[in-house]
Amino acid sequence: MCRHWNQVRRLTGRVVRGLIVTRAMSSGLTGVEAGKRAAARAAVDNHIKTGQAVGIGSGSTIVFAVERIAERVKSENLQLRCVPTSFQAKQLIQDNNLTLSSLETCPKLDVAIDGADEVDSQLNCIKGGGGCLTQEKIVASCAEEFIIIADYRKDTGALGTYWTKGIPIEVIPMAYKPIQIRVASELGGKADLRMANRKAGPVVTDNGNFILDWVAPTKTENWEFVNQQIKIIPGVLETGLFIKMARIAYFGNEDGSISTRSPPWLQSAGDR
Ligand code: A5P
Repeated sequence: MCRHWNQVRRLTGRVVRGLIVTRAMSSGLTGVEAGKRAAARAAVDNHIKTGQAVGIGSGSTIVFAVERIAERVKSENLQLRCVPTSFQAKQLIQDNNLTLSSLETCPKLDVAIDGADEVDSQLNCIKGGGGCLTQEKIVASCAEEFIIIADYRKDTGALGTYWTKGIPIEVIPMAYKPIQIRVASELGGKADLRMANRKAGPVVTDNGNFILDWVAPTKTENWEFVNQQIKIIPGVLETGLFIKMARIAYFGNEDGSISTRSPPWLQSAGDR
């Protein structure tokens, strides 16, 4: 049995490969969707307990997590308060009859679960493919434990390998042009205004802002520095670079198996 399976066993004391494969297959899903589902369900089973305040991410993978949370709430009578990271997440919570909360009433969360567009070897992430990066980062920052769920394609050694659409940057609309110019002149590359598909003009976020997708000219390992450089530009609200935030990532494979990974900085601190 390979190392990550031992790791999953150690984490849960009960999750075994056969069980997860069976569940994924019984869903009728195949390929990437089976991987997303397996990662989401394992994360919920291993980290969600009654009494918790839970941050609910956005995207397609989180849908499987919310479904599993709803199943467990019903079968185990879990008492949970769920804080959304977007309009989509809010609807998911309500549609699954979960208890909707907010950071106003629940400013400290036990756990936040969310997808990612790409995850590097340090568990730094690119997020915001769905435009929800700002609320996602706020909610993740309020959680004791931030957990990433993703399919195997997102697990790469270096950011920008899989997700080539650029780093999402949420900006105040009146500042988008000067920010584009400044990002290009200070960091190189190009920051495109994200355009809407079924609406004329740009994507407008849940916060009423625009998104720039910045494609960096070269790869870097110093994403923390890059993130700081972007964030000090006036009019930038938030970036989709989630640096040293995730404590564990669950990656699902096409056969319904999963692997987990914690960041090296957390392992070396002996804080697992
Ligand atoms: C939303 O803005 C994003 O950060 C998503 O969390 C991310 O794109 C993951 O989405 P999928 O689960 O659909 O891959």
